[in-house]
Order: sequence, then structure tokens, then C-alpha cells
Amino acid sequence: MKAEILKMLRETGDYVSGQEICEKFGVSRTAVWKVIRQLQEEGYQVEAVRSKGYRILDEPDVITAEEVASLMETEWAGKPVVYYPETDSTNIRIRHLGDEGAPHGTLAVADRQTAGRGRRGRTWESPGGSCIYMSILLRPELTPEKAPMLTLVMACSVAEGIMDCADVKVQIKWPNDIIVSGKKLVGILTEMSTQVDYINHVTVGVGINVNVQSFPEEIQTATSLLSETGKRVKRAPVIAAVMRHFEEDYKIFMQTEDMSGLMEKYSGLLINRGREVLILEKDSEYKAFAEGINQKGELVVRREDGTVEKICAGEVSVRGVYGYV
Ligand code: BTN
Repeated sequence: MKAEILKMLRETGDYVSGQEICEKFGVSRTAVWKVIRQLQEEGYQVEAVRSKGYRILDEPDVITAEEVASLMETEWAGKPVVYYPETDSTNIRIRHLGDEGAPHGTLAVADRQTAGRGRRGRTWESPGGSCIYMSILLRPELTPEKAPMLTLVMACSVAEGIMDCADVKVQIKWPNDIIVSGKKLVGILTEMSTQVDYINHVTVGVGINVNVQSFPEEIQTATSLLSETGKRVKRAPVIAAVMRHFEEDYKIFMQTEDMSGLMEKYSGLLINRGREVLILEKDSEYKAFAEGINQKGELVVRREDGTVEKICAGEVSVRGVYGYV
């Protein structure tokens, strides 16, 4: 009920009488007052005027389940939201929730992670109160080899969601880093639980640097929305916007089970397209010209001798010739 009352106050933008709230939710005035008190304790500025009712003046930058749920405009993506003030890793939480039978679309959101995971076994710095750490549970009817493309789908949705909420132009560094001014703003980690030829569930985890001001020495290629725009951005609307885009992009992806329907969108965001890149294989590296992605989401590159290669995410890493992009 808290999320619904919050939504009602926000959408009205004016005073809502206690009576109206009581009638809408079929609860007592005391129950409504209790919810208002809780909201105030959580940092919401809710004005209470005897003859007029309640009016919301300002909202804190919180990402509680109620706050995020009250902004969610989707059918299934991000429903339900499970919030952790602190947890090891939202990817781990979603894996467990998936094993326990949680529904397709369940979203785990944390304010802080103590064991945030990055790609290639790296850790993901996860300080509290300033960033977004979220993972969505998916139960796609796909063969396992197609699941890695979901990372590219999410990259599109995150880029679109961020640009809806902040005054910034982001791009995608293939396959799934979101970058601004040549620095990394977002990381995405997709993990899967499978049988031999069957997906049990997929976890797509997203880490967005939002209001963080400085980064440790070893990750100087990182940036945040605050560093790029000079403005603080509220995190819950970003989460809701990403989920809204993801629901749409996922539908397009599932129609063909490949990137063909999202190709234009993804290619328009791809920073590597038309640039020289360095392909780093396990024991060797080579320079090539990146032409774009194909329907499978592979990066298509032309070597200096003219031969064309299709690069699969996860097997190699791609850098700019002069640095990170
Ligand atoms: C990368 O290395 O670029 C991927 C980083 C992914 C980080 C996110 S934060 C939310 C989710 N939980 C994790 O432990 N990792 C992902």
C-alpha cells in the first residue's frame, strides 16, 4: 500500500485528502497516517495540512522496493522488486531467487554490495548510497547459446533509460560497457543457470555509477553521472526507465531471438563502429577496423589484410587502439 499511496501523492502533485486515500485503499485514517509517518521517517517531505490533506514536496534519493515499485510502468520487467540495503551481490540474490521459483522479471536492487562481481572474475566496487546495483531474473524460452545476446539487449535499454533521466549522451563499447567521454559509466554481467540444452534462468546484472564522486586509483577509466553532468540524479527513476525500455527491447529481441530488430538502435549507440580497434586474444593481439555487429551480436571486424572476422563476446576483449575505447 505504501507504494500505491506514494504513487497517488506523486501523480496528483497537490493535496490528497486522508478520506480519499482511505476510500481508495479501504483502510482506516490511522493506517494512512502510519504510512505517511513512515514515509516522513524515510526522508520524504510530506506536508500534512488539517483541512486539505497530504502533499508530497520532495523525495529522497532512495531505492527501496516501495519507491522503485511506485515508479514502475511495466507489465512484468522489474516486478516484483526485492530491495537489499546491503547484500553480497544482486546477481547472487537473483540466482537464489531463481532457484526458489521467483517469477520472470523479478528485480533485485541493492544500495550497497559487499561482493559485487564484474566480468572476467573481477570485483565491482559497490559503495553505498550513490550507485545502482540491480539484477533481473529472466526465464526465456531460448537455447543457451542465444542467452549472451541478452547482455546487448540490456545495454540498449540501459543507454536509453539513462538518457531519459540525465542530460548526457552515452554510447556502448561492444559488447556491453556504457561509456561517456571515453570512460565507463555502466557494467553489465549476465550469468546463466542451464541444463545441457535448456535454460533454467538467466541473471542480467547492471551496475550504474550515479552520484559517486571519485574512484579508486586502479579504476581511473570509470566515471559517474555526477562527474559527467555536475548534477545529482535520483536513482529510482533511472531504474524504472531502464526497466521500461528493457521490457520493450526484450519483446523485440524475442520475436526473432536475435539482434536483427535492435540492430539499428544498438549500432547507433556503438562507439566502436567505424573505428580502429585492438582485438586482444588469449596469447596475441591484432589491429582491425570495426564494421558493426551482425544479427548474432558478434562484432564484425576487418583485419589489415582485408579478411573479415566475427568476434564473439567473452572470448576476446576489444580496446581502442590508443586506450580504453
Ligand atoms: C563488468 O565487469 O563490467 C560488469 C559489472 C557488473 C556489475 C553489476 S552490479 C549489479 C550486479 N551484481 C553484481 O555483483 N554484478 C552486477
